[in-house]
Amino acid sequence: MTDAGRGTVALTGASGFIGAAIARHLISRGWRLRLLVRPGSQARLPSLPATRVITGSLADPMVLKQLLAGAQALVHCAGAVRGLTRADFDRVNVSGVQALLDAADDALRVVHISSLAARHPRLSHYAASKRAGEQLVQTCLPPARRVILRPPAVYGPGDRELRPLLDRIMQGLALIPAPRDARFSLLHVNDLATAVACLLSGSAAWGCTHEPDDGQPGGYAWQDLLAAIARLRQGSVRALTVPGPALSALGACNELLARLTGRAPMLTRGKARELRWPDWVATGNASLLAIGWRPVIHLDQGLRDTLP
Ligand SMILES: NC(=O)c1ccc[n+]([C@@H]2O[C@H](COP(=O)([O-])OP(=O)(O)OC[C@H]3O[C@@H](n4cnc5c(N)ncnc54)[C@H](OP(=O)(O)O)[C@@H]3O)[C@@H](O)[C@H]2O)c1
Repeated sequence: MTDAGRGTVALTGASGFIGAAIARHLISRGWRLRLLVRPGSQARLPSLPATRVITGSLADPMVLKQLLAGAQALVHCAGAVRGLTRADFDRVNVSGVQALLDAADDALRVVHISSLAARHPRLSHYAASKRAGEQLVQTCLPPARRVILRPPAVYGPGDRELRPLLDRIMQGLALIPAPRDARFSLLHVNDLATAVACLLSGSAAWGCTHEPDDGQPGGYAWQDLLAAIARLRQGSVRALTVPGPALSALGACNELLARLTGRAPMLTRGKARELRWPDWVATGNASLLAIGWRPVIHLDQGLRDTLP
């Protein structure tokens, strides 16, 4: 059964990796979409029927009013995932959330895409901004109108952040940026999209913060990921652990370079601290399983989808 006729969902971040998957999935379930897209980013949008594009950014209150007018729900997926200073992240991940909440009417329901990083706001500016964004949503909206998803590392077709690392491993060399005993959860982008659709279809499991994953109990060790890629490439993978100080030094160099060039770096000292954190295992899917969602893409299949 589809959700045909249920109405309009406003979506931010559809020109990005996760937002595009959510957009495709919601359309296939019969929702009409209204997308907030920054000028110049239209070319990155997936081609979608039943969609209206509102051009503008999270900094423009009039545009946000237009985005949300008459919508039944907002899926807020836009986010700053790279940057140098706290202000770089807060501008989008905190002030952007506040601007959306200011533009929302009293009935709008909000699915807020946060991150597992929000668990540890002291690790990085990104993590701190994602936690602050969650706090705004929790403070400004009653439980029945909000649900927070904290995805772990998300992968799948269209990913730009994890992909270079996965490509290198696919060539047979893994530079492991974490301690050997570190564990992490993974989630395929299409399973994250189905979780959003499932939440939008009802009101159960709202008012909570969920940490969905791909169903792998206890998450993965790096060796598990390397073994899965070795199976895929039908050859062994050589692993080299990058020492913590080297990773931090690389982060510091990138920050310096970013100050000189004005380009937002991915690997900063904060990102290095996130990467070195030993436990990024999600709390799991119990509350989402109870409303009928389940992840269906496990690592071997997900990697086949993602890597050539
Ligand atoms: N990827 C992961 O593994 C992962 C894991 C956990 C949580 N998340 C969260 O998931 C969300 C999406 O991440 P992603 O990986 O899909 O990142 P992405 O590919 O970089 O997409 C980010 C999206 O946000 C939009 N955006 C950024 N600043 C904006 C602004 N000021 N106004 C309007 N739109 C803006 C971008 O638009 P442009 O195209 O115009 O830049 C893009 O559509 C983020 O909130 C992130 O924190 C991601």
